[in-house]
Amino acid sequence: MKKNRLLAALLTAAVILGSCGSSDSSSGTSETAPADKEATETTASAEDKPASEENAPTEFIPEAKNTQELILEVDTDPSHRDKRFVETADYAQLKETYKDKFYFGCAVSERVMGNNEYTELTVAQFNSYTAENAMKPDSGLDWKTAAKNPEFYKEHAPVNFNRFKNCLDYAQAHNMKVRGHTLVWHSQTPEEFFHVNYDKTSAFCDKELMLKRMENYIKDVLEWTNANYPGLIYAWDVVNEAIDDGSGMRKQSNWYKVVGEDFVAKAFEYARKYAAPGVKLFYNDYNAYQARKQRDILKVIKPIAEAGNLDGVGMQSHLGLYLNPNDFMKAVKKYHDELGCEIHITELDVGNDKKKVDDWEKKQADFMTRFFTALQKTIDEGVPVTSVTIWGLTDDMSWRQNEGALLFEMDLTKKPAFDAIIEAKK
Ligand code: G3I
Repeated sequence: MKKNRLLAALLTAAVILGSCGSSDSSSGTSETAPADKEATETTASAEDKPASEENAPTEFIPEAKNTQELILEVDTDPSHRDKRFVETADYAQLKETYKDKFYFGCAVSERVMGNNEYTELTVAQFNSYTAENAMKPDSGLDWKTAAKNPEFYKEHAPVNFNRFKNCLDYAQAHNMKVRGHTLVWHSQTPEEFFHVNYDKTSAFCDKELMLKRMENYIKDVLEWTNANYPGLIYAWDVVNEAIDDGSGMRKQSNWYKVVGEDFVAKAFEYARKYAAPGVKLFYNDYNAYQARKQRDILKVIKPIAEAGNLDGVGMQSHLGLYLNPNDFMKAVKKYHDELGCEIHITELDVGNDKKKVDDWEKKQADFMTRFFTALQKTIDEGVPVTSVTIWGLTDDMSWRQNEGALLFEMDLTKKPAFDAIIEAKK
């Protein structure tokens, strides 16, 4: 029996190793960032460009990649420890080092949750958990059941919480607080959810019906999580990526198409109505530091903050070397000045096409030194940045998997960027 488990673990490891470096982008999800390609090209070569908004390349937008989520069999026998992992127990701890400043979080995939060594490192380093994918609308919205009885489910699609439960059980068992990601997003939300009879060949719902579906989804998620895991989730990304780069609302979003511009305000209104007291409500976006985009974001969310329905801004922070961290911190401060709210750095990774830059690991580390130094200065000046999340554990599992964007190698060796963050602590 033990032999079989070992064999299974080895086979699984071989599958993962075989999958590393693959870049199959033929996924079923509909990530729709218009500037994807441009962003990819400019980020790789823009190191020397000034960080003015005119020249700054667009932060990475998801080009959906096949990250092949595998649920690994958990083998607790230490003699079966997979030799491709290095020992990590003596690493300094990010969460401990920065505990007087902010939550230090990680985006965790189901692949990480199914593996002992990934888990050991994750829980040693981080005290905040974001589900990389498993708490997005497409993880829970059971449109297939709704489509079987569309009259009955017309205004209220059922939600299957199995994947949410796995995430929340894991976070709770490992003493990590949770950032909920995300309630309302154009991507990773079933197309069927927006259509009459949950049939994507039918017309879009009218606005009134769509808002009912939105309200019911938000209600179900917030009430279910609070009833079953009270106090575990400290913040939710209520709306993700509603604003385009430089041209106002993201017009290709189904939410915009079906509901119109006020879908953002409505989502926050419902979230406030159903969230337990103390759960913070965030607007989350990429390129949120760029001046034009910040202007457009503020235009939409300022009235929401004034209505008392917004507690914070999530700045995703998929960055490259082109960025001057001091410019980034000016934008952080501006959100606080304008809205009086908290700021979270929600999806930090710093990548580059390693083939196009010499000495990448050192450059990434230097960037982290400057970024975390500037961040602490900003906090010390009174700006409440209360959570920082790294978007993934090891480089090979990152959505930017060929860019060396994270803090650990595939075998869990810590990178100079990790040491730089530890050493930047004042
Ligand atoms: O779950 C399916 C699996 O069933 C299937 O076998 C496999 C094969 O294609 O695909 C799996 O889905 C993939 C999913 O990740 C889980 O691995 C999707 O194809 C893939 O597109 C998806 O990518 C995620 C991406 O969001 C989708 O937009 C990334 O892992 C995730 O890191 C990324 O995260 C986003 C944030 O939520 C929002 N901000 C940008 C950020 C980076 O793109």
